[in-house]
Amino acid sequence: MRTYNIAVIPGDGIGMEVMPEGIKALQAAQKLIGEFEMRFEEFPWGTEYYLKTGRMMPDDGLKILEKFDAIYLGAVGMPKLAPDNVTLWGLLLPIRKSFQQYINLRPIRLLPGLTGPLKGKGPDDINFVCVRENSEGEYAGAGGRVHIDTEHEVAIQTSVFTRHAVERVMRFGFELARKSVKKKLTSVTKSNACQYSMVFWDEVFAQLTKEYPDVTTDKWHIDSMCARFVTHPQTLDVVVASNLFADILTDLGGAIQGSLGTPPSANLNPERKYPSMFEPVHGSAPDIYGKKISNPIATAWAGAMMLDFLGEKKASELVLDGIISVTKASKTLTPDLGGTANTIEAGDAIRDAILIEFSKINVRVA
Ligand code: NAD
Ligand code: IPM
Ligand code: MN
Repeated sequence: MRTYNIAVIPGDGIGMEVMPEGIKALQAAQKLIGEFEMRFEEFPWGTEYYLKTGRMMPDDGLKILEKFDAIYLGAVGMPKLAPDNVTLWGLLLPIRKSFQQYINLRPIRLLPGLTGPLKGKGPDDINFVCVRENSEGEYAGAGGRVHIDTEHEVAIQTSVFTRHAVERVMRFGFELARKSVKKKLTSVTKSNACQYSMVFWDEVFAQLTKEYPDVTTDKWHIDSMCARFVTHPQTLDVVVASNLFADILTDLGGAIQGSLGTPPSANLNPERKYPSMFEPVHGSAPDIYGKKISNPIATAWAGAMMLDFLGEKKASELVLDGIISVTKASKTLTPDLGGTANTIEAGDAIRDAILIEFSKINVRVA
């Protein structure tokens, strides 16, 4: 039996609501396929833990996580209880950085059955993937503040773009595009204003383009790319962007998918030297936390991405097929998607749909 040890960090807010539903979906797939076992170990790290201990995770938190095959995370941040920069730099960002999860894959797909906000755009038009640089750029953490609390106060936040990191994220994008149907890679830039970092980004992109003659390329400035997400999503296939640009674009992606409650996110260490981390794109949603109406789809879909990365393709497809049969039926959707189901009902529906999908697969095989 193949065994995977999964570290579970529900974290804060709705992270604690959606995580059990994600696990439920994975356990259904595991039970049905019966060829592997996932051992989930939960860690109560997050803002509550911080308020009690002064730390978001223990001193040896990263050492503990390092031994796992993957990390499954809900969300981090409760801005009314502790500053976001403290909580996020205490848990989520150190994991991404220390474990060299330098690729952040974020599919943007309007699931069948859902109606997004874009008139005339259906599931065939909104179906692409964003490859986010996840180790440096605007999130390098370089900077400082001087003359604090004086009129001369200065804050500096420096972006860092290295050839090594820019090249590897673009190569990842090219390889992904090479395997896709449209075979197209779109680079997001801002070289009209950022004359050092983004001109460099464009140069690296142009150099690599020569190595991938089978891939069609184009590039757009981040501002016009935002508009094109809305006006021309059908022209996109694989989109590669810097850390901050892709962060912003993928919330917009969530919106055109119908809700931020649906898109997943995979923080990958492609060399598998360290565990990769799987989470929803969304955050802890303090505005709805406690109402138990948060949508578990993004977390379950992130779980499907985790299974895929672990090599359990059949189980991964089963989870995604289960999610899609729920969106197609549109009977058990949470309010963000226009339904009336609560989080647990939506999670139960995904689990039940996985069971039905499985019986269909078996009929096909028989
Ligand atoms: P958010 O993603 O938490 O919420 C934005 C909006 O989307 C809210 O109106 C929320 O109700 C809605 N929403 C999000 N997820 C939903 C779901 N599953 N079902 C239904 N509706 C959903 O973004 P925010 O409000 O900017 O951030 C809240 C906190 O989360 C902050 O502390 C922020 O720093 C943190 N955050 C953490 C992560 C993460 O841990 N990966 C990601 C984003 C934001
Ligand atoms: C995300 C989040 C994080 C990011 C925040 C919470 C630091 O918005 O995962 O998209 O900006 O990467
Ligand atoms: Mn974000």
